Amino acid sequence: MGIIYNETYRTWTLHTRNTSYQMKAGNLDYLLHLYYGPSICDPDMSYQIRQYDRGFSGNPYESRNERTFSLDAQPQEFSTQQQGDFRVSSIEVVNGDGSHVFHGKTTDHQIQKGKYRLDTLPSVFAGKDDTADTLQITLTDQISKVQVLLLYSVFEEADIITRAVKVVNQGDQPVHIKKIMSVCLDFLNGARMDLVSLPGRYGQERQVERQPMTHHIHTIGSVRGFSSHQQNPFVILCDREATEDHGDCYGFSLMYSGNFLAEAELDQYDQLRLVMGISPKQFFYQLNPGEMFEGPEVVMAFSEHGFTGLSHLYHDFYRTNLCESKYVQKVQRPVLINSWEAAFMDFDDVKLVEIAKAAQKMGVDLLVMDDGWFGKRDDDNSSLGDWVVNQDKIRCGLDRLVEQINDLGMKFGIWFEPEMVSEDSDLYRAHPEWAMEIPGRKGVRSRNQLALDMSRKEVQDYLIKSINQILDNANIFYVKWDINRSLADIWSNALPAGQQGEVCHRYILGLYRVMDGIIKTHPDILFEGCSGGGGRYDPGMLHYYPQYWVSDNNHPIDRLKLHYGTSFVYPVSTMGAHISDSGRLVPLKTKAVVAMCGTFGYELDATHLTKEEQALCREQSDLFRKYYPLIIKGDYYRLTNPFETGNMTAWAHVSKDKKEALLSVIVTNLTCNGPQEYIRMKGLLPNAFYTVNGKEELYSGSALMHAGLPIEREVPEYTAFQFHIQRRD
Ligand code: GLA
Repeated sequence: MGIIYNETYRTWTLHTRNTSYQMKAGNLDYLLHLYYGPSICDPDMSYQIRQYDRGFSGNPYESRNERTFSLDAQPQEFSTQQQGDFRVSSIEVVNGDGSHVFHGKTTDHQIQKGKYRLDTLPSVFAGKDDTADTLQITLTDQISKVQVLLLYSVFEEADIITRAVKVVNQGDQPVHIKKIMSVCLDFLNGARMDLVSLPGRYGQERQVERQPMTHHIHTIGSVRGFSSHQQNPFVILCDREATEDHGDCYGFSLMYSGNFLAEAELDQYDQLRLVMGISPKQFFYQLNPGEMFEGPEVVMAFSEHGFTGLSHLYHDFYRTNLCESKYVQKVQRPVLINSWEAAFMDFDDVKLVEIAKAAQKMGVDLLVMDDGWFGKRDDDNSSLGDWVVNQDKIRCGLDRLVEQINDLGMKFGIWFEPEMVSEDSDLYRAHPEWAMEIPGRKGVRSRNQLALDMSRKEVQDYLIKSINQILDNANIFYVKWDINRSLADIWSNALPAGQQGEVCHRYILGLYRVMDGIIKTHPDILFEGCSGGGGRYDPGMLHYYPQYWVSDNNHPIDRLKLHYGTSFVYPVSTMGAHISDSGRLVPLKTKAVVAMCGTFGYELDATHLTKEEQALCREQSDLFRKYYPLIIKGDYYRLTNPFETGNMTAWAHVSKDKKEALLSVIVTNLTCNGPQEYIRMKGLLPNAFYTVNGKEELYSGSALMHAGLPIEREVPEYTAFQFHIQRRD
């Protein structure tokens, strides 16, 4: 059992294979956090906490004349509100009597086998071979009768602990939740820690930034209505000395696709607190007597082996315990070609068949018809919401078009942007009240489209019905699910004035319900997420989609950074990566090598390629299929950091049994008469011998990892190398 309750010390210890996590019902029944890190066997780590009188830090009333116990200095498992702890709170409620206070004391706990479930939000699951146990600890405010249920599931083998939180109103008056964090983690000594996050922008998502903790509250989050291009719901706290391979790293990955917040505060005593959950901005949630509110799950991991160690824990876990689609592991994914950068909205059935015929020669398995096939859509000013085939463009009908593609031996995919509506659409004309617009005000336009009020059940039902109708009436193999604007004008015509603070969260709940109703009812369809590129690339979405479009930026050299940053938490198997016309100076072969750090495909007009280019593409598609198990299931290593100046960017995929590896190197910069460059491998067996690209010469794993492979120098700029490394037994 990965969870141990020690009755003598009133401690709970969660054990995974390599880590331990401990808390205690301490002084006055406050729930204290004692430890998270490499495995320990001590039943009570509270010896670390020293009580002494601290000026201007309040003492609970029950302490009477004893001035040394203050919540302002205790490492807490879930920081309270208005109880003399002036650091970032985990909860803020407005009680029925108007008071802003939550005074939670430990009142109960339960330990159970298996993983807890969330009813309204996606969460990870335990596979049949996983040992997962669950702990629930209840904190109760005896006056307001508000209860907080802290949930923990321990995945022993995976070295993962998940947390979630529920709030229950056991009182007899409505209360309002202003802030509810899913995780609170206190470190007694945080002065030498850094915070790593994945900020970005449209076209440059998930760039990596690292900042030392200073005596401030460092905040990361999104208020754009979705997790966004600008920030990602993932942060790392690490030792200042931590590197790619060494040092303590703590990861926090929030399974939520809406507004989120992470706050990291280094306090006056160098203690560090991290909280993470739904953003309190645009959030004010009414909880009536007897009702329960669920907060999203946080997936936590700890590694002593630097960023690589941490990434591998997430990659392995997210490849097996996040998304139930058979395409995650069991069924090979296709090489696709997407019509967007080939034709934008200027296509018809004939053009699509022409692209498919050319793509067939390139070894492509799947044609995706992107934006522009529905309603009257010829540009991006109309028709979103009208999920009916545009007969002027697809003259032969959708089923006939799909048949023609299938006759070429290829599969067919289609694009939707379900959450949006154009003012120029039949849907908007029929139901203007379904769009998010604040009555009496002019709304914010973005790509000239409005967001649908996804919190409304009628909207959800309409989308489930109209999209399923398309999916059920043609042989559709793949769906690209897009969203192309941030939310503003937060409003629902279906909610009373006092509940408008619930709209953003209810939007996300509605979205998940629609996804359940479309994606989970079509287990044979491969779904890919997209948000103007990679704007909503988060675990909430990856619970539904096995893959996600990394970015609209297809420039292969920019992609090196995009793939690097994304890989800090998300496995390569989730990364949608294509060859396109972007980066004209970069050879096609190099574009292909870059796109092989992902699900591989094309985003160009195949009819414009020469025969030689088509043949080269076929070679690359075949190579991808050959290396597919390594790329999708192997361990991924970042061998260089593309954010640092260097002449080469390299990464490797190594099979779990270490018998095979694929090393990819891109020459990003050529220096005149420069030094010889070596790339050092990672992840091989030091004492085993390996061949490189099938040649006779043998190298030990040690040699490849410590001396490295010399990379040919006299090559044109942007040359790519792939080395297939195989163990010789
Ligand atoms: C977004 C996507 C693109 C494409 C367009 C279509 O920008 O990221 O790949 O699908 O929408 O409008």
